[in-house]
This record gives sequence, C-alpha cells and structure tokens, in this order.
Amino acid sequence: MTTSTKPPSSQPRLHQKGAVIQEFGTVKQFPLGLSYDARMYSCQRLNKVLADTQILYGLYKKHHWLLRGATFYQLHLLLDKHAGEQLELVDTLAERVQTLGGVAVGDPRHVAEITSIPRPPDGVEEVPAMLSRLLQAHETILTQAHDAAARAAELGDDGTNDLLVSQVIRTGELQAWFLAEHLVDTPLVRA
Ligand SMILES: [Fe+2]
Repeated sequence: MTTSTKPPSSQPRLHQKGAVIQEFGTVKQFPLGLSYDARMYSCQRLNKVLADTQILYGLYKKHHWLLRGATFYQLHLLLDKHAGEQLELVDTLAERVQTLGGVAVGDPRHVAEITSIPRPPDGVEEVPAMLSRLLQAHETILTQAHDAAARAAELGDDGTNDLLVSQVIRTGELQAWFLAEHLVDTPLVRA
C-alpha cells in the first residue's frame, strides 16, 4: 500500500469520461412485485409517450412564441399554460421509467429519433394550422396512451396504467378541448 504525498486540493476534477453503466432499452431489477417483462414493456411504451410529449411541449412553446393576429394574447397565455402542464408530464413519465428500472429518453436528438409526431416547418404557419398541428399531436399521444394503459394493466403494471389514464389522458383530453373550441368558425359580434 502506498501513501499519497499529494497535498489536499480544492480543484474539481474536470473533463471526466466514463463508461455507459446501463444501456437504453434495458431495465434493472427492482423489488416492485412486477415481472421483468411487464417492466420492459412499460418502459418501452412510456419512452415513446415521453418522446412525443417532449415534442408536444416544444410545439406548444414554438407556437406560443410565433402566434399572431387578433387572438394573440389569449392564445399566447393558453399555449404557455398547456406547455407548462406538458412539461410536468414529461418529468412524471421520465421518473416512471426510472422507477421501473429503465432508462428515460432525455436528449432532444434521441427524442427526435423516437417520436412519430411530424416535424413542423421551421417558419411560421397560420394560426389555425398551428392549432390543428397541436391537436394532431395530442391525438397521436392519446391513441398511444389508451393502448399502452390497457396493455400495462393486463401485465399487472397498475402504476403505469394510472399515470397514463389519470395524468396523460386526462390532461391531453382537456387541452384538446380548449384548442378545438378555437377552431369553431362562429361569429364574434353578430349572430
Ligand atoms: Fe413566454
């Protein structure tokens, strides 16, 4: 055994590199009373919903910024409220993946590889097209969430079922209602 002769230092050890200690797409063993297959399945489905939800969050922010026209102020506020609620779902979904022993998708470039929500133009669309785009993204997530929730329940993963039903689906349905009502072509002043 050698004794270090180096004096104590307050210098942080910077620029460190390390091995990957858990691969994406794997789950480690946690004592949750859930089978390996159930946890693997839920993590895969949750990561898909997580990727789509991160994209939806980004779309909400993009449109919050790029809106224009007579309804700018109310939609600017509404889309930011929805973005905030989606961001909470992102965290909840990611932490559910970790709770099951998996690896949550985090990097936006990885998210882009997993999502099935189409990429919007980099420029500015007309407001009704922006709202339609958001509604389509919601429906993609809702369809996935309904299916994943039912299958997770079949495999005994009640926690994942509850998250998808009580949070992802309920939040998404409510937000879709608020968006869709803005696409009703109704007179504002004269009936
Ligand atoms: Fe803002």
